[in-house]
Amino acid sequence: MTENLTEKYLDTINRALAAYLPESDGAENFMNDVMAYSLQNGGKRIRPMLTMEFCALCGKDAASALPFACAVEYVHTYSLIHDDLPCMDNDDMRRGKPASHIRFGEANALLGGDGLLTMAFGILAAAELPPALIVRAVDALADAAGVCGMIGGQYLDLAGETEARTADDLRATDALKTGALIRCACVLGCIAADADYEQIEAAELFAENLGVAFQIIDDVLDVTSDVGTLGKPVGSDEKNGKSTYVSLLGPEQAKAEAVRYTQKAIDALAVFGDKADALTDFARALAERIN
Ligand code: IPE
Ligand code: IPE
Ligand code: MG
Ligand code: MG
Ligand code: MG
Repeated sequence: MTENLTEKYLDTINRALAAYLPESDGAENFMNDVMAYSLQNGGKRIRPMLTMEFCALCGKDAASALPFACAVEYVHTYSLIHDDLPCMDNDDMRRGKPASHIRFGEANALLGGDGLLTMAFGILAAAELPPALIVRAVDALADAAGVCGMIGGQYLDLAGETEARTADDLRATDALKTGALIRCACVLGCIAADADYEQIEAAELFAENLGVAFQIIDDVLDVTSDVGTLGKPVGSDEKNGKSTYVSLLGPEQAKAEAVRYTQKAIDALAVFGDKADALTDFARALAERIN
């Protein structure tokens, strides 16, 4: 029986995420409350878990990757706040609570997201790791979060509301909007461990496939789940006329695609041998997740 990554890392990650937030003690710190509201409670934290596990797989104590793990989750949380805004997916619930713009208004949600994004790079810069590794991490996160990564993918995703999409288009969109940050999470774990080229290449291949699988399951759950289980609205993609693997293939075939990508991800872990058993279980569980 392998150790479950959630049991292994979740508490540590949640404590560290909270500890990076500035003290909040008055009106001038209202923005801290906005950031804390979205960051705390409710997220599955899969990206920071991946960072920590890759650091361990590459031979270093997982705790040394904790700042990198938190930086990725800060960027992810910002992306969710902005993704829910009326100008994007216009969704009113996130992580089981009213979305940030419902709770605080659009301008504050926008600024809270900006705050989390900006803080992420400060968290990287302050990590107690060799400066050369920090510079590589900053470069990787900037690439993954930027227009050649997540932002570019979000643009393609919104453009897909008005244009027909093939499976190749969808894979390209998912690889950017969701895959880029998941890939970065894995690579940052390797960087924190000063991993060798072969390990980084394996992590990238794992993450590229896992990222696409992850978004396909997200799209499946958007039609098969319910708001209580998911903690966010269902039917969002259809409401927005989005092209997804589900609109193209139907939920069963889309799920089969996700399982196929998950297996490709798992195959990429061969270089780590049986040390990767927990990560293999984690990847399989993500394909079967219910939220
Ligand atoms: C949701 O991500 C957005 C996607 C990229 C599909 P998660 O499913 O990881 O959301 P949280 O962090 O658990 O809320
Ligand atoms: C979001 O994809 C990807 C991001 C970069 C935030 P979705 O729009 O499908 O994510 P959910 O379903 O709102 O979480
Ligand atoms: Mg979206
Ligand atoms: Mg959305
Ligand atoms: Mg979705």
